[in-house]
Amino acid sequence: MTDSAGSEPTPWWRDAVIYQIYPRSFADASGDGVGDLAGITSKLDYLADLGVDALWLSPIFTSPMRDFGYDVADYCGIDPVFGTDDDFDDLIAGVHDRGMRLLLDWVPNHSSSDHPWFVESRSSRDNPKRDWYVWRDRRSDGSPPTNWMSLFKGVPAWTHDEATDQSYLHVFLAEQPDLNWANPEVEAAMHESLRHWLDRGVDGFRADVVNLIGKGTDVDDLPEDLVTMPLLATDRPFGHELLRRIRTLLDSYPHEPMMVGEVYLLQAGESASYLGDIAGGAPELNLSFDFRPLHTSWEARRMQRALSKMEGDFAEPGWPTFVLSNHDRSRHRTRYGTEARARAAAVLALTVRGTPFLYAGEELGLEDGVVPPDRVVDPDGRDGCRSPIPWTADGDAETGHGWPTRPWLPFPANATTHAADVEVGDPGSMHSLYRDLLALRHDLAVLRRGSIEFAAADDGGGADVIRFERRLGDERIVVLVNASERSARWPTDLADAAVLLSTDRDRRASGGELAPDEAVVLRL
Ligand code: NOJ
Repeated sequence: MTDSAGSEPTPWWRDAVIYQIYPRSFADASGDGVGDLAGITSKLDYLADLGVDALWLSPIFTSPMRDFGYDVADYCGIDPVFGTDDDFDDLIAGVHDRGMRLLLDWVPNHSSSDHPWFVESRSSRDNPKRDWYVWRDRRSDGSPPTNWMSLFKGVPAWTHDEATDQSYLHVFLAEQPDLNWANPEVEAAMHESLRHWLDRGVDGFRADVVNLIGKGTDVDDLPEDLVTMPLLATDRPFGHELLRRIRTLLDSYPHEPMMVGEVYLLQAGESASYLGDIAGGAPELNLSFDFRPLHTSWEARRMQRALSKMEGDFAEPGWPTFVLSNHDRSRHRTRYGTEARARAAAVLALTVRGTPFLYAGEELGLEDGVVPPDRVVDPDGRDGCRSPIPWTADGDAETGHGWPTRPWLPFPANATTHAADVEVGDPGSMHSLYRDLLALRHDLAVLRRGSIEFAAADDGGGADVIRFERRLGDERIVVLVNASERSARWPTDLADAAVLLSTDRDRRASGGELAPDEAVVLRL
């Protein structure tokens, strides 16, 4: 059992629920069909009312948008499609005025090929910025320098540049050349970009594929089974050194900025090791995503196993995250197939130990958009989960829903029935469930800080039920999630527990049967 009760003051990000906004798809104030900063500012009351504590904006920096902002051409500039510096200042002031915090996406592993650093780097072999990226000679037979494959498009992770007769590394698109963090000038320049935003008041960062920066110059051939997974192969000590220095930078600011890292390592414990202090070392990331639940199907045994493993890996002083949806995966409402399951999953997300990350629109129960072939824009097939938020019910798949003009992607499949103006205020809606859960979490320290213990798989209401207990001092909360289409036996030891919340609006008391897909929060 992991005991979270302690005398240390709790850092804000442990108590927080963080809400991910994909700015292109959130709200469009300028009327060009792409969401923007002023659009987000116009929805701050909606977000404050929902009850989230911090917003993470997917990339807003200057970019040619080949990977929709994950290809940065200026780490200190805002892309004009999102607005101006003044718009940013208005947004951050509005966020802080409402007692929330703002995190920005920071993309340290690669820049855009349009970044002036890369333009210089590719201009000649002796350019001072040559070594800011990873350049190698082809092999004598003309093949790429190593066997690494790019994570997009199934092509080699090297592109040959005729002008200087060498190849550069890009783990993602050819337009996303990898930076060489083994060069101290690169590290200094990237630190500068962090300082720029911290000085402007941001409260932290989500660091994109951050374990990749640790590859240094060590980019030799990978074992055959790993050639398509350079992410797994770049879990190296150098990356941890870099993160310790980033942490020192963050900790030098008095407003407690934090960094959550995208560490796409699904093996046991690897992601947790990026917290640094978990094994008694120096601190690195404040939070490190563990995507095992995101990759786990909606089955009690599997989900409970994934969660217990995470708990083991992120035991104190570690602290886990919980993510069901983001801009890279089909929304969990679509993956799980029914609204009832998505409701049960919301209870799980907001009652397990750790910092939950919500993806904009999951509080409305939105499905993925259906994107016809002629509207596909993403190089990796992720358009569906990036469909725009429908603010109003009036509209069709392409237009309306509170957007001033046809947005860059079609709306979610259930936009009309799950638009914000339908959901907000309806006591039976997904939005009301999220609002209630967020309020409960704010009210009950035990849900935020308590220890967690999972019941043995067969020790709950049956093998289909996820069961765990949160404890803080004398406070005891039990959560039951029936992750099946069958009713389940109500556990006899919980006959007298008080029902604090149920996904079944008719439930008033403990007992009877746990309905299919019902989730309950009980106080002992
Ligand atoms: C992970 C991001 O989440 C994804 O959207 C992006 O395409 C890659 N990193 C490359 O930056």
